[in-house]
Amino acid sequence: MHKKLFIPGPTEVRKEILDAQSQWMIGHRTKDFGELYHRCVTKTAEALGTKHHVMWFSSSGTGCMEGAIRNTVDTKVLHCVGGAFAERWFKISGLCGKQATRIDVDWGKAVKPEMIDAELAKGGYCAVAITQNETSTGVRQPTEDIAKMMKDKYPDVLILVDAVSSLMGDWFEIDDLGLDVVVASSQKAVALPPGLGVSVVSPRAYEKSLTLADRGFYFNWEPMMKRYEKDHQTPTTPAISLFWALDLELDSILKETMKGRYERHLEMAKFTQEWVKKHFALFAEPGYESVTLTTADNNKGINVADLNKQLAEKGLQISNGYGKQLKEKTFRIAHMGDLTVDDMKEVTGAIEQILGL
Ligand SMILES: Cc1ncc(COP(=O)(O)O)c(C=O)c1O
Repeated sequence: MHKKLFIPGPTEVRKEILDAQSQWMIGHRTKDFGELYHRCVTKTAEALGTKHHVMWFSSSGTGCMEGAIRNTVDTKVLHCVGGAFAERWFKISGLCGKQATRIDVDWGKAVKPEMIDAELAKGGYCAVAITQNETSTGVRQPTEDIAKMMKDKYPDVLILVDAVSSLMGDWFEIDDLGLDVVVASSQKAVALPPGLGVSVVSPRAYEKSLTLADRGFYFNWEPMMKRYEKDHQTPTTPAISLFWALDLELDSILKETMKGRYERHLEMAKFTQEWVKKHFALFAEPGYESVTLTTADNNKGINVADLNKQLAEKGLQISNGYGKQLKEKTFRIAHMGDLTVDDMKEVTGAIEQILGL
């Protein structure tokens, strides 16, 4: 039975997009694939309003997070940690042999520019890694304010952004803010099945990557860019079916416009957050609520696993809290991708009915 997904990835995928994947296979060393990949790259850049390099990898977003570190960090990287995914990125840097330090805030809180300023003032940093949308806590980190502070005071330090669960739903100016690397996954606000990751890379970050010795193979930007410049193809075999789906979804995004898509996401976020405030409480620090998902503080002590079982009977699914720390203590309702306010009314209405709210 089809369950409509209100989980923060994979998100609900329209049938038309699923069907786009079922064309006859083509070779990836063909003009047809080069044209398909080129359309995906150019339409992504157009939707995001960026002149930076766009690379779509056949991997989940974590690969692109690792790539961001391996292609840019030579001295020290500062991680801003307030949830599970920022924690993961910090771990990745260590496993890649990088010198990584961290700022920690309580889960549910945002990392403020002044905290980063105080750490960067100590010197020796080449990059700061920010989880723009922390999917475990529902916190939107103040990336715009952080970027403005860094542009003023630390213009040479690169800004690496995990926008895995927000890109193409939430809106932020990549080029004007000077974000050097922005990474995301296909199965979140892009509203595709899992399997693709995107890296949006500033010219200066790309130039820097060419000077680093230990970039590995798969997520090394240089072969991606070289092959793209040659014939619009990718160095290794891409997930061709997903690119058909992406091509079609990007047409919808461009038709709706990113402004329209962002406004729809804001409307869904406002509706869901008001609903959560009425019946529970928000987990995110006030003023830093995510645009693409809401984490509810389970202050009524409901059984979230049971609720989800009953929602499943109605063809709906939300998400429990993330990991041991937040499971049953919170629950998450995603409002990203191609969902609408009517969908949010459907899922919150069903929860009210089940819980007798
Ligand atoms: C903020 C954030 N970063 C990174 C990831 C990892 O992405 P993926 O599962 O596509 O590797 C996720 C996945 O939920 C996420 O929400």
